[in-house]
Amino acid sequence: MSHIALITGGVTGIGAATAKLLQSSGYTAIANYYGNQEDAKTFHEETGIPVYEWNVGNFEECQDGAAKIAAEHGPIEILVNNAGITRDGTLHKMTEEQWRSVIDIDLGGCFNMCRAVIESMREKRFGRIVNISSVNGLSGQFGQTNYSAAKAGVIGFTKALALEGARRNITANAIAPGYTHTTMVDAVPEEAMDDILANVPVGRLGEPEEIARCVLFLVEDDAGFVTGSTLSVNGGKYMA
Ligand code: CAA
Repeated sequence: MSHIALITGGVTGIGAATAKLLQSSGYTAIANYYGNQEDAKTFHEETGIPVYEWNVGNFEECQDGAAKIAAEHGPIEILVNNAGITRDGTLHKMTEEQWRSVIDIDLGGCFNMCRAVIESMREKRFGRIVNISSVNGLSGQFGQTNYSAAKAGVIGFTKALALEGARRNITANAIAPGYTHTTMVDAVPEEAMDDILANVPVGRLGEPEEIARCVLFLVEDDAGFVTGSTLSVNGGKYMA
């Protein structure tokens, strides 16, 4: 039986590329989304991948979403925590709302979703968790104290969870993508983007599919010895 794989933020960008690659690799891919109904509808029509709407920043909604998927498809065995937002601004201008929303969704979302699936993974003695961090969680980024903190937090969270899951064949790994061709990166002001690209040795943005192939590697049945790692996929921008 093909494993059930949930990808949060799975109807656009890195999440969509991951969902499609997992589906074409024989997994039962399921995508979560929040707010972007039009994208979700188009994605579902094009791929046939089931889509479920909830806010990963909300604990109860994550519990309900995971339970609904378990009832309709089976328990989630592979979880890709990809959903995330940016609310950029220098600290002296950052509002509490900008801080909290990024921490609650980008870091809190990892907790909420992992908490919603960990018990069934422990029972099954199988699980693959991939948390999408960011190069900016490793290097820090001007204008992103909130996002850099959340994405660095994701890496610590992943390492602790890897220790807890190890004896039950539940792996937890992080991927730290660099600047990738997505709507999130498209929103970066042009001058800032020119500076950023000048510091990417390969001289271009990454493509969502280039991150997706790393997720696939980490979720395979025979990837059980790879746990607690952070895989940098950033065109050489930052070498941790
Ligand atoms: N390093 C040092 N100084 C910088 C700088 C940098 N990288 N960028 C800007 N500055 C300077 C400016 O030159 C300016 O200096 P002066 O005041 O002396 O003229 C000053 O900082 C501007 O500061 P402000 O507080 O006024 O900033 P702002 O309101 O103009 O906007 C910003 C700042 C919102 C951070 C804007 O520069 C920006 O959006 N930058 C891009 C941030 C970014 O990379 N976000 C990534 C989003 S994609 C993503 O996160 C995905 C992923 O995982 C990779």
